[in-house]
Amino acid sequence: MTTVLVMGATGKVGRHVVVQLRERGHHVRAVSRSSPDRFDWADRDTWRPALSTVDTIYLNVWGVVGVADPSEFTELAARSGVRRIVALSGRGDGGEDFLLNTPYGPWAKAVVDGERAAQDSGVEWTIVRPCWFAQTFEEDPKLSAVRDGEVLIPVGEGTVPFVDAVDIASVAVAALTEDGHQDQVYELSGPRAMTFAEAVAEIATATGREIEYVPVDVPEYVRHLMDRGYDRDSARTHAGPFQWLHRGNTGFLSDGVLRATGHEPRDFADYARRAAATGVWSPSGVRRRSRSGASGRC
Ligand SMILES: NC(=O)c1ccc[n+]([C@@H]2O[C@H](COP(=O)([O-])OP(=O)(O)OC[C@H]3O[C@@H](n4cnc5c(N)ncnc54)[C@H](OP(=O)(O)O)[C@@H]3O)[C@@H](O)[C@H]2O)c1
Repeated sequence: MTTVLVMGATGKVGRHVVVQLRERGHHVRAVSRSSPDRFDWADRDTWRPALSTVDTIYLNVWGVVGVADPSEFTELAARSGVRRIVALSGRGDGGEDFLLNTPYGPWAKAVVDGERAAQDSGVEWTIVRPCWFAQTFEEDPKLSAVRDGEVLIPVGEGTVPFVDAVDIASVAVAALTEDGHQDQVYELSGPRAMTFAEAVAEIATATGREIEYVPVDVPEYVRHLMDRGYDRDSARTHAGPFQWLHRGNTGFLSDGVLRATGHEPRDFADYARRAAATGVWSPSGVRRRSRSGASGRC
């Protein structure tokens, strides 16, 4: 039986890729540094075992920065008999050089390298380029801010059509398991462009709590994170994508979810209701278990 290798399998998208593939009856090898089948970009001894009997790869380059080039891995994959790679990337706004020149640059470059590695590997490839994930509100520093009831964000009126990780995973699973997605670049967004103030208001409605949105500028945001224990470099790295949003070019909609899966993308309000029901945003941070027993970010 052939195996689908899912990288970053504990991540916001990867966990849904695993669930959806298993629901379709596929044999999955779910890997990350913390999974029973361990894969670490920084430890090349873990690469070959991860690829054993693998037919198809969901490629997530998170963790590759500073330790490897994704093409080393995709070349090994092609030599090992892999016939298809679906790479998670990120949607730009036509001015990607801007992001590359922020402190977030190395991470932005990694997904560009990941795309190229998939395309140059000599096997079938599909690129999945989502805009900002709705699930971004479930990771720090935004998660703690929502729990505290005060969300400082340095984006002004910049808008994002947040896309749900479940939809991103559906696109990836379609490309991994169906024909007709080869050589496709799918740009993904949710159905409406929102300001962060509107997104925070949706979360407040879903949780029934008062959560204040506080617009700040980038230096204030960096200071705010440093007051909360972040060192200057990581505070500036977190601010990088917001500097990009500030330019105001990120609100456009993309039709990749519909093109790849045949269904419309989920709305942010739908995501907020599901996430609120898990308890992830409760001030205590205590989650309710989802029915599947998974940690249930959404
Ligand atoms: N967040 C957004 O809004 C957004 C938007 C567009 C594109 N993206 C792109 O999406 C990607 C992030 O995907 P995601 O949602 O899965 O991220 P995530 O939720 O942050 O998860 C990262 C995954 O990578 C694993 N990982 C971390 N370091 C690793 C290493 N050294 N070797 C192997 N695995 C490692 C983690 O598991 P362990 O900790 O167990 O290793 C985890 O499974 C990035 O490339 C980012 O550029 C994100």
